[in-house]
Amino acid sequence: MRQPVVLGISGSVSRPSRTAALVRHILERIEKRGAVQSHVIELADAAPVLFAELTPANLGGAAKAIVEAVEDADLLVAATPVYRGAYTGAFKHLFDLVDHQAFVGKPVVLAATGGTHLHGLVTEHELRPLFGFLNALTLPTTIYAVEADFANYRLVDANVRARIERVVSEALDQLDLGTGLPSGAPVKRMVIGV
Ligand SMILES: Cc1cc2nc3c(=O)[nH]c(=O)nc-3n(C[C@H](O)[C@H](O)[C@H](O)COP(=O)(O)O)c2cc1C
Repeated sequence: MRQPVVLGISGSVSRPSRTAALVRHILERIEKRGAVQSHVIELADAAPVLFAELTPANLGGAAKAIVEAVEDADLLVAATPVYRGAYTGAFKHLFDLVDHQAFVGKPVVLAATGGTHLHGLVTEHELRPLFGFLNALTLPTTIYAVEADFANYRLVDANVRARIERVVSEALDQLDLGTGLPSGAPVKRMVIGV
């Protein structure tokens, strides 16, 4: 029996990064409450590799490994800083390279950080439609944090932390921790019969 794989993606291209800190906090809480294994992809590291590939055709080497990790995860925590009212270009480029069939029914936690509360609905207006296109199962509770919610790149705001506990419950409900398979969804390898 294998543990479900939870993959966090930080769309920030900066270091240090509040978005990466947010992703790590969410993953820590998921690991605390469920028997899962978690990993993080930071686009600050991965973007130069991924931008070397402009199309999914002939994807190879390190870029292919990153893309396959995203496709194969049982649960995604997809987070981006708001850049110009939307996700970062690096974040979108990653999802331009993936096999869209790999996301059917896959549970996804949507999260973002921004400089202003005015862009707090970026999760609804930008992230949810992107994952809707992929037929992913985006969880109802979304996470948005502004710069003031962090101290020394650690999430400190009590309201955001409480909201994270809610989405962690929603996420764990989607994982069958007994078999290690997502409880509601066919996984990619089943969908395309590979
Ligand atoms: C190029 C750029 C564009 C940005 N655009 C927005 C924006 O449209 N709305 C907003 O609220 N914050 C915006 N910000 C602020 C970042 O979203 C915010 O500082 C975020 O927490 C940075 O995340 P990071 O520390 O993970 O890089 C922008 C920052 C940069 C560098």
